Amino acid sequence: MEKQSGLKGLQIGERTAAVPIIQGGMGVGVSRSRLAGAVAKEGGIGIISTAQIGYDEEGFESDQAACNLRAIRKHIRKAKELAQGNGLVGVNIMVALKHYKEHVREAVEAGADVIISGAGLPMDLPGLVPEECGTKIAPIVSSKRAAALILKMWDHHYQRTADFLVIEGPEAGGHLGFSREQLEHREEMDFDREIREIISCKKEYEEKFSKKIPVVVAGGIFDRKDIDHAISLGADGVQIASRFVATEECDASQLYKDAYIQAKEEEIQLIQSPVGMPGRALRNHLTETVAEGRIPVKKCYNCLEKCNPAKVPYCITKALIDAVKGDVENGLVFCGANTGRIREMTTVKELMAELTETW
Ligand SMILES: Cc1cc2nc3c(=O)[nH]c(=O)nc-3n(C[C@H](O)[C@H](O)[C@H](O)COP(=O)(O)O)c2cc1C
Repeated sequence: MEKQSGLKGLQIGERTAAVPIIQGGMGVGVSRSRLAGAVAKEGGIGIISTAQIGYDEEGFESDQAACNLRAIRKHIRKAKELAQGNGLVGVNIMVALKHYKEHVREAVEAGADVIISGAGLPMDLPGLVPEECGTKIAPIVSSKRAAALILKMWDHHYQRTADFLVIEGPEAGGHLGFSREQLEHREEMDFDREIREIISCKKEYEEKFSKKIPVVVAGGIFDRKDIDHAISLGADGVQIASRFVATEECDASQLYKDAYIQAKEEEIQLIQSPVGMPGRALRNHLTETVAEGRIPVKKCYNCLEKCNPAKVPYCITKALIDAVKGDVENGLVFCGANTGRIREMTTVKELMAELTETW
């Protein structure tokens, strides 16, 4: 019998991805052009994380800002080349970044198809991305409250609305838009209900702006069954990150990918991030040291808008760069709640086929 997907493409305004899967942005350096380009080539939406993206550019130790801008341009161009005209290529830009506005402008100039922005409320995003440039914008929200506030403010200040919404649930990796208490009792949370409520709150803006606002659900999506469940709730697509780490094309070192493959469910934990939000990561020497006290910051890499290097528990830039390069004990290995189920390396092509095909 022939394999078929039965999934509809993801249409964002005049742009369409044949496969309704966004590969979530993963910083620092975990999703750059190689991964994002491979996902787009398979018809999905490949997302490059701009957080300290230039960490291996020459001159990074002395001028992070310039290296990051140069790398944003370079990786968008490379990912588009790899995509060979398929899918879409975009960036994830965290609101908490010190050079947020510069990253957005650089991504627009470099021709990003989409910009997804979370780790804070991206209130200024429409003002930085002219509608005529064609780059589509989406906030990441984890509650109806955040979704309603962003849509109201974008309408009020810019007479614009979101081109799509990413709803990120409590099982995601990286920074999480929930309190630690909510996350510790996540089984009590009815997040499906929250998803339905967010979907109903965007309807007012779809009517007002006469356009569809597609919704993409993220966090803990592991297989086709999870994708079908998200779609049954009213989603138009999904965003998946952790599953893309154990692929040949993922931009992290092999040691990082091996740590994912070897991780057991009980080794995944919550950690406080200097960003001021909880995060989910693999337990290792870093997380155990931070649980006992601080790791003094020797050098500031100017990553966050709000950070006091004398007070934060550790330097998040150093921890994430150490990890992506392969020091998975002293670095911070962000991961989603279902990472313990990942058992082997694969390729983006195989993973996209596995996620989409039904018999
Ligand atoms: C290693 C890693 C790094 C991440 N970095 C970012 C980031 O820089 N910005 C962001 O908005 N989300 C980040 N995320 C969240 C993902 O984009 C995604 O929404 C989430 O992990 C989805 O859940 P899943 O990993 O269970 O599929 C990260 C996730 C992981 C696993």
